[in-house]
Amino acid sequence: MKFFVDTADVAEIRALAELGMVDGVTTNPSLIAKSGRKMAEVIAEICDITPGPVSAEVTATDYETMLAEGQFLRGIASNVAVKVPLTEAGLRVCKALSSEGTPVNVTLCFSPVQALLAAKAGAAYISPFVGRLDDLAQDGMQLIADIVQIYRNYPHLTTEVLVASVRHPLHMAQAAKLGAHVATLPPAVIRQLIKHPLTDRGLDAFLADWKKTGQSIL
Ligand code: E4P
Repeated sequence: MKFFVDTADVAEIRALAELGMVDGVTTNPSLIAKSGRKMAEVIAEICDITPGPVSAEVTATDYETMLAEGQFLRGIASNVAVKVPLTEAGLRVCKALSSEGTPVNVTLCFSPVQALLAAKAGAAYISPFVGRLDDLAQDGMQLIADIVQIYRNYPHLTTEVLVASVRHPLHMAQAAKLGAHVATLPPAVIRQLIKHPLTDRGLDAFLADWKKTGQSIL
């Protein structure tokens, strides 16, 4: 399973890349705004850190401008994946860019049939938002299960399921059990995945016993 990091914070991406946890990066206009930096500059810097796909999202809503923005973003680096919203114009841009060989991440997916449309439009990734569905008391993980099943029914569809809006470790465990190809995680959730109280307790006990021996390894 691939781990993407859902942030435009370059320092966080560098730190997590050193852990081997960055197979790619996703950004969105809100994350770029949070970084306080120019979009083209921050995307270029992220693309230098990781060879994996770096999603950069268009902000226009009409086909022509979205397409031009997508082509501009793709020109920043060869590992840019253009992110488009799941709208009629977005799907049309997805088809146009995909046929030029640009990987497209179709975002803001909230239904299985939307995911089917994105796959038919040639998307490299579909981003269903699990946390935002859970926030409305709808089962975000059921959406992942449905999309995985639908894509498996049609093996010629090559779109990867990129679980987005991940809020906690249980989302990650469930996404992996369902066989989702990718999950994009906020840095804090990646760090939560590392932690287990029994690991901390066990390590404390080992180190206390080791101290009693008076030995040192080096
Ligand atoms: C992914 O591509 C999205 O940018 C992100 O996962 C959205 O997460 P949020 O619902 O926590 O904002």
